[in-house]
Amino acid sequence: MNVCLVAVMILFFSACKSDAIQENEMSFQDVHTYSKPQEALVKHLDLDIHVNFQEKILEGWANLTIAHDEKAKHIILDTKHLAILKVEIADGEGNKSKAHFTLGKEDAILGTALIIDILPSTQKVHIQYATSSEADALQWLMPEQTAGKQYPVLLTQSQAINARTWVPIQDGPGIRFTYSAKVSVPKELIALMSAENPSTKNAQGVYYFRMSQPIPAYLLALAVGDYQFSPISSRVGVYAEPIMLEKCANELAETEKMVVLAEAMYGKYAWERYDVIILPPSFPFGGMENPRLTFATPTIIVGDKSLVTLIAHELAHSWSGNLVTNATWNDFWLNEGFTVYVELRIMEALKGPDYSEMLATLNMQDLDIALSDFKDVPDDTHLKLNLKGRNPDDGVTDIAYIKGYYFLRLLEETVGREKWDPFLKNYFAENAFKSMTTELFLEKLNKLLSPKQAEAINIREWVYGAGLPKNCPIPHSPNFEKVEIAQKSYLSGEKIATEKWSTHEWVHFLRKLPKDTDAKKMAQLDADFHFTQSQNPEIQCAWYELALRYKYTIAYNAVDVFLNSVGRRKFLLPLYKEMMKTPEGAAMAKRIYAKARAGYHPISYQSVDAILAGKE
Ligand code: BES
Ligand code: ZN
Repeated sequence: MNVCLVAVMILFFSACKSDAIQENEMSFQDVHTYSKPQEALVKHLDLDIHVNFQEKILEGWANLTIAHDEKAKHIILDTKHLAILKVEIADGEGNKSKAHFTLGKEDAILGTALIIDILPSTQKVHIQYATSSEADALQWLMPEQTAGKQYPVLLTQSQAINARTWVPIQDGPGIRFTYSAKVSVPKELIALMSAENPSTKNAQGVYYFRMSQPIPAYLLALAVGDYQFSPISSRVGVYAEPIMLEKCANELAETEKMVVLAEAMYGKYAWERYDVIILPPSFPFGGMENPRLTFATPTIIVGDKSLVTLIAHELAHSWSGNLVTNATWNDFWLNEGFTVYVELRIMEALKGPDYSEMLATLNMQDLDIALSDFKDVPDDTHLKLNLKGRNPDDGVTDIAYIKGYYFLRLLEETVGREKWDPFLKNYFAENAFKSMTTELFLEKLNKLLSPKQAEAINIREWVYGAGLPKNCPIPHSPNFEKVEIAQKSYLSGEKIATEKWSTHEWVHFLRKLPKDTDAKKMAQLDADFHFTQSQNPEIQCAWYELALRYKYTIAYNAVDVFLNSVGRRKFLLPLYKEMMKTPEGAAMAKRIYAKARAGYHPISYQSVDAILAGKE
């Protein structure tokens, strides 16, 4: 099976295709799925699984409703490390029979194709399966890793191509299906999905779900644990462990307002409810935009609402990503660049432009670092990527997020918000529940821009070229200017007023410290501002990186504790990378990691493994 040769010849096929398939016509090629949706396509997934905490596996049935070309001899699904136990097919009358199936050769990135023979009359495919200990999507947490310390947790992370490690499915972002599920769990726990969710536990430990809007497989999600619900508005709420529920609900109190502001700019919220679940600290990401139920790290719960921009980000995906979806992972910037743009517009509407400019400035600093990290691999700095033969996770960089953001900001600044805002709103409405390629977006953009504007922007250089074009907008943050002035005064021995600073001002302050800082100066800073003892992970991470760089050994114990309690990749990678720069640091990294690794999600420990092996 050669996925690289999947050339889609639309004209050739269209004469003999069923309506269902024509609707989903794919005029793009996805090198990260084995499936051939133009021949046979999953329309609905009905999942019936048991969550087995003893064996750390999911077991049960994936029942698929399919549409296919009448000439199609089989349907191809993606799997990775799944045990396929039995496969049956059924026609429209419910006549079931055992089906012949084969498993393709295993690929380390893509997994294994599951090729199931079908008949012209086949409408359903039933697959009995179990996951394995190697399921990249699954993290099984011990009670000690939770806030309450009493109950275990299971959480999934399907993006980018991990859905196939817990469900046999067509795992490409360009393929959408509706789903329903029956999930049975230990009676003390509740199950929640990226679907209509229960608000309380039930005595049987059996939960039913329905997701009636079609989604791609990377948005399939399940969390199981001791969670309780607290409403924020009639359509917004938060799930968290009982002992932190109130704190979480307070932190996220502005979420309904964010939905209202986003709707005013980009059109009606399409997913009915917007809930957030606050997961244990080993969740590998800041957030994940699972429809109806954003998964979020507890590292944003800092007490002053200063990190809720992450919620704005995941909420923004309800338009950019979940509604209009990147057709392939090569178009990932369409998901994330648009989402950072929408995130900052939501934050601007909520807190004013001075606030969102702080975020844009921190983003620009991150982008500068990414551009210098990639200076030997200029192709990785293109917005449109070519990830053939690579893991799509390689494309998850600040290029997609921040270069993408600045490209959209340049478009906004060029045509003006009077034209740009309606254009975006219309883009989301016209392409709702559809896939978008970079090329199709550029076609639409062409209709918006005058030839003169198009020339000034130089779209080709932005999208298909390396680095950052000269006409990139420059953010301007008055708040950060004040921080820089205050820092100068502080360094010359004056007292400074920092009471009104948010997390962002502190992070900027730390990032702007002079390069000749040493352990002695670090000690003075610590005495004045108590960074080592900070309970704010953004500040902790920025400070610990400096502590490692300038050998401020007093903070090393705190670094150890931090790396053993948090599993968010964004915080792990810079700290381990910093340690790996010196032999003593490398020894420290190995010692900390020996204990910490077991608590990390596969997605996080795979990245840290690479750093410690010197591959990053
Ligand atoms: N969808 C991403 C997370 C992701 C991307 C997971 C690709 C796996 C593969 C999510 O929306 C995200 O961008 N999270 C960021 C949030 C931040 C940019 C506000 C994170 O986790 O740091
Ligand atoms: Zn995102």
